[in-house]
Amino acid sequence: MSAYKPADLIETDIDAYLLQHQHKSLMRFITCGSVDDGKSTLIGRLLYDSKMIFEDQLAALEADSKKVGTQGGAIDFALLVDGLAAEREQGITIDVAYRFFATDSRKFIVADTPGHEQYTRNMVTGASTADAAVVLIDARKGVLTQTRRHSYLVNLLGIRNVVLAVNKMDLVGWDKGIYDAIVEEYATFAEQIGLKTFTAIPMSALDGQNITEPSAAAPWYDGPPLMRWLETVAVEDDLQSRAFRMPVQWVNRPNLDFRGFSGLIAAGTVKPGDRVKVLPSGRESRVARIVVLPGDLDQAVAGQSVTITLADEVDVSRGDVLVSADDPSPVANQFEATLVWMDDEAMLPGRPYLMKIGAQTVTASITEPKYRVQVNTLEHIAAKRLELNEIGVCNLSLDRAIPFEAYADNRDLGGFILIDRLSNRTVGAGMLHFALRRADNIHWQATDIHKDVRAAQKGQKGRVVWFTGLSGAGKSTIANLVEKRLHALGRHTYLLDGDNVRHGLNKDLGFTEEDRVENIRRVAEVSKLMVDAGLIVLTAFISPFRAERRMAREMLEDGEFVEVYVETPLAVAEERDVKGLYKKARAGQLKNFTGVDSPYEPPEHAELTVDTTTLSPVEAAETIVAWLERE
Ligand code: ADX
Repeated sequence: MSAYKPADLIETDIDAYLLQHQHKSLMRFITCGSVDDGKSTLIGRLLYDSKMIFEDQLAALEADSKKVGTQGGAIDFALLVDGLAAEREQGITIDVAYRFFATDSRKFIVADTPGHEQYTRNMVTGASTADAAVVLIDARKGVLTQTRRHSYLVNLLGIRNVVLAVNKMDLVGWDKGIYDAIVEEYATFAEQIGLKTFTAIPMSALDGQNITEPSAAAPWYDGPPLMRWLETVAVEDDLQSRAFRMPVQWVNRPNLDFRGFSGLIAAGTVKPGDRVKVLPSGRESRVARIVVLPGDLDQAVAGQSVTITLADEVDVSRGDVLVSADDPSPVANQFEATLVWMDDEAMLPGRPYLMKIGAQTVTASITEPKYRVQVNTLEHIAAKRLELNEIGVCNLSLDRAIPFEAYADNRDLGGFILIDRLSNRTVGAGMLHFALRRADNIHWQATDIHKDVRAAQKGQKGRVVWFTGLSGAGKSTIANLVEKRLHALGRHTYLLDGDNVRHGLNKDLGFTEEDRVENIRRVAEVSKLMVDAGLIVLTAFISPFRAERRMAREMLEDGEFVEVYVETPLAVAEERDVKGLYKKARAGQLKNFTGVDSPYEPPEHAELTVDTTTLSPVEAAETIVAWLERE
């Protein structure tokens, strides 16, 4: 640290201050560790020592320290950071907080991530853009479960610069033996998780020992103090020397004479004249200009945001990736990936989610996890689904092919988030490992007879009439009447009924959420084949989830999917209880029963709703047939 005070310079010469900062490199890091390891104090200390606290803040800090501080009236640095009222009350950090500070040589953004177990989500959020991680350890407690969990995530998220900050050394009398034992234990764990290197620093954030200045209390330690490490560790990895990659964020077309493609260069270097490919289409062109404000560049490198124009009129859309023509990215639609689940609702295999990767959004469905990782023990455990904060390895299947890189090689092109299509919540984050080759060897076989001619020969239009509703609502009864009537009218039909299909094709499935998702996925696929055969398909399944009904709808063409909601209040269905199943469910003899201990999501935009409290089954069937014959 130099003696100059940024705060003074801000007051006397703001231009000089800004200029100084403009040319400094930016480093993002996260702090992690258990509750009470002293993260907030450490960050407060870094802010204080880098003179980024102003006089008014300092006055407030001194006053607060006296009032609510934990340091007997002396400055409590944690109060600087624990800004949230709730935190002060509970004494823990509850959300990711970002702080900014700067020294002579670097600017820093630090993400303070919470230590509690259930906050993996926040940790992932904080770590996904970090260059370095400071893993805090309380010297009195040593390596804890939290330390392991966070270090595992840090490594998983590809952070290669790690400091093991052995804090509160003053409380163990700066005992070298204690420090060495902690470092050794951590080294063993680091090796297990594949974390290749880390730097250990003994320190006391509270006393400011080994934070900015080497500590006199630890003459046996000859490494850098934390701030020195942060200032000097290499943050730019070898991205610039890799092949050129730029996901197109937007197509910049201010007037007819200019068409540029804007984005952040994710890897490599680019110059006017370079041959590039547009992926996934594979079209080729040359870079004409690299445009930035205030003028064109002769060259741009990874980390820069630029607008590129091409020599030829090639089709480029948002989400495409411009790559070096000599060394393009692979393109694929099936992958193995690690997934961190971040939503209260579990990940369900087979359900389609939106996947945001690079600058594009695609639809992805996930297979059953190959395994889940028990982070504390690193064991691989069999799993049917992933719950909140769980980490697993799964295969993903996308609705189209995308250019990508393995996450280990490029975070921008290999990292993704998953979004629930109905709630729009971010439900997961993931890292691509590699493409599955099996998809390469299966091609669509063209046939000469098409769906249209098959249907025409039957004098009808193939479609699916999808009945949904509670058990006992009357789906099977009404569907059966509809089929009889259509048959009498000379239509070619097939009725797929839940109970019947579960005797054969789906006899391996039960009634857990994931089994129901798979049940409906198979029924949707079979229906699609039957529509292809030109049939009018009637399906009678509870199909309790909107997401899967929507999936079935999207597998078919417009107008081919007719959703019929057989609306019967739970009380009425339960009263009828034709099969006696509600009684069993209420008695606790039948688990996961729809309406009792498993949810039913009624349709929001069904083509038809039949209310069975006002219509008899025959009337309901007539209404449906009339609609079908009309539309
Ligand atoms: S779905 O939810 O996966 O669409 P599906 O329609 O195939 O269900 O099967 C529902 C039928 O299975 C019900 O009509 C009922 O006869 C029977 N059944 C047995 N157990 C359950 C259960 N736990 N929940 C709902 N239905 C059940």
